Amino acid sequence: VSVAEVRAVLADATDRLTASGVPSPRHDAEVLVALALGIQRSRLAIAGDPLDDAAQARVAGLVARRAAREPLQHLTGTAGFRWLDLAVGPGVFVPRPETELVAGAAVAAATARGAGPVVVDLCAGSGAIALAVATEVPNAQVHAVERDPVAAGWLQRNVGRLAPHVLVHVRDAATADEIPGLAGRVDVVVANPPYLRDDAVLKPEVADHDPPGALFGGPDGSAGPRLVVAVAGRLLRPGGALVVEHGDDQAGTVAALLAGGGWDDVAHHGDLAGRPRFTTATRQLEPNGGGR
Ligand SMILES: C[S@@+](CC[C@H](N)C(=O)[O-])C[C@H]1O[C@@H](n2cnc3c(N)ncnc32)[C@H](O)[C@@H]1O
Repeated sequence: VSVAEVRAVLADATDRLTASGVPSPRHDAEVLVALALGIQRSRLAIAGDPLDDAAQARVAGLVARRAAREPLQHLTGTAGFRWLDLAVGPGVFVPRPETELVAGAAVAAATARGAGPVVVDLCAGSGAIALAVATEVPNAQVHAVERDPVAAGWLQRNVGRLAPHVLVHVRDAATADEIPGLAGRVDVVVANPPYLRDDAVLKPEVADHDPPGALFGGPDGSAGPRLVVAVAGRLLRPGGALVVEHGDDQAGTVAALLAGGGWDDVAHHGDLAGRPRFTTATRQLEPNGGGR
């Protein structure tokens, strides 16, 4: 079996994915062929790995599932996030590249606190943000809060693999301030909450595979950010930092929530495409600003 045959299989897979409307067909074809062959994607160009009948059947099966718009990350079972490979699959939100910047802001805020910062990720999903902080700020005490039991199963698995010292709380973020020792004592609250409008039009990978509870924040999408701002106000110590992701049209909404009182240093930040995507703020030093 020659390299040319690998190329032909790749071309055929790319054509099938293109016809199905997959956004990055060549990339996905390479990932799936490499997965079927059990090799690194970078080896495809040079490898003369035999593509026997069994491998061809594996390619066909994977390409058919991707053509049916199953997320690539569900087929590989992993999602890259900053320095981490997270286990993902049915029932958990696939981490997105823009959230890497949100996690980076939480890492920076936790690092700036110095020794032993306490960090709470309020909507943890697979654990992407919590585990980025836990692995990049080694002295941080990280709490990961997730309501959905299936998502929490993925979270537990990733915590066990990557940073077993992270404390997992399977509960509604609305009651995170009832976790013993946290109210008014947290240095950094970070969250990527559900923030899409209930009527948002979504790609099939999202609509059919990300859990609805991870996506939708009510008619205007603001329910998730609203919850995060309210709970962060009860969790953070004076001077503590909030980092909250939101929709690219919600910077004003989040600013209005924070203008409700008790916050300083409100700043909006762009995603990789420069769209306003997350907001940071500091809990007021004197808790006299009309907290919640
Ligand atoms: C957009 S996903 C983000 C997951 C992860 N932080 C990431 O960025 O990949 C939102 C997550 O918050 C969880 N969630 C939604 N509402 C919640 C609530 N009230 N309390 C706790 N978790 C909640 C969902 O189940 C979902 O896993």
